[in-house]
Amino acid sequence: MAQSNNSIKKILTVAFALCIVCSVIVSTAAVGLRAKQELNQELDRKSNILDVAGLYEPGTDVEEAFEQVTPRVVDLRTGEYTDQFDAATYDSFQAARDPAQSRTLSGEKDIAGLSRQENFTTVYLVGNPDDPEQIILPVRGQGLWGLMRGYLAVQGDGNTIQGITFYSHSETPGLGGEVDNPRWKSQWDGKEIFASADSVQPDIALVKGGASGETEVDALSGASLTSKGVTNLLQFWLSPEGFGEYLARFRSGIERETVQDASTDTEGA
Ligand SMILES: Cc1cc2nc3c(=O)[nH]c(=O)nc-3n(C[C@H](O)[C@H](O)[C@H](O)COP(=O)(O)O)c2cc1C
Repeated sequence: MAQSNNSIKKILTVAFALCIVCSVIVSTAAVGLRAKQELNQELDRKSNILDVAGLYEPGTDVEEAFEQVTPRVVDLRTGEYTDQFDAATYDSFQAARDPAQSRTLSGEKDIAGLSRQENFTTVYLVGNPDDPEQIILPVRGQGLWGLMRGYLAVQGDGNTIQGITFYSHSETPGLGGEVDNPRWKSQWDGKEIFASADSVQPDIALVKGGASGETEVDALSGASLTSKGVTNLLQFWLSPEGFGEYLARFRSGIERETVQDASTDTEGA
């Protein structure tokens, strides 16, 4: 005899079968779309790099515009480039989690709240990679609610800031979330990292109540803690603990001298 539609057994069988069908559909979609998701993440990363470099407008062909950008992997301990990794695929976040490829940070050394720092990271060079117009540096550190990740674009002199962008953060919209407000970001163009050519520690900082001078930027209003987080992450990544050694090459003109030497050699040949 057929079971009534109200029987417990029939209800449970239908509910179970529905769960199985739905989970198969969701898993198939997740696996099938993984490659597309990764491609979109990669496109988003490139768009952010182009944006901070001032090379992105709505409608820009990202892959075509990204041909002006050369990724290079840098050894943060020496400031030298390395060919040990493929710069197009090297994953510095993964490296930061691997004790063999990173170091522990604690106490006063960890002002950005990272706990671990990768030994190698990827930088992006705009224009001639031997004498770049801009150097795009990945930066990250704790805000009020979580990790903020972004890029800082620095001109080829290793000191003048072109722009900043945060592509991932958990700060409150309207408060700390103003880190991605274009009006606030527009203040950064032309600011300087170091107050003098001899400075080893970066001077750039967010200040409350009106920035004055080339190394100060207005703090975010009503968001002192996020502002402190931005100052801390920049002071960490631009110090000798971060990109300090690498930037010193540009500040002292080593990169430009190398290019000039190469062109003199070519002329002499
Ligand atoms: C719901 C809520 C969300 C907040 N989000 C942020 C935030 O994202 N960033 C931040 O610095 N402060 C945030 N604050 C405010 C901080 O608690 C603190 O009051 C503020 O950072 C002080 O900034 P001020 O000295 O500029 O007023 C939030 C407060 C509340 C109640």
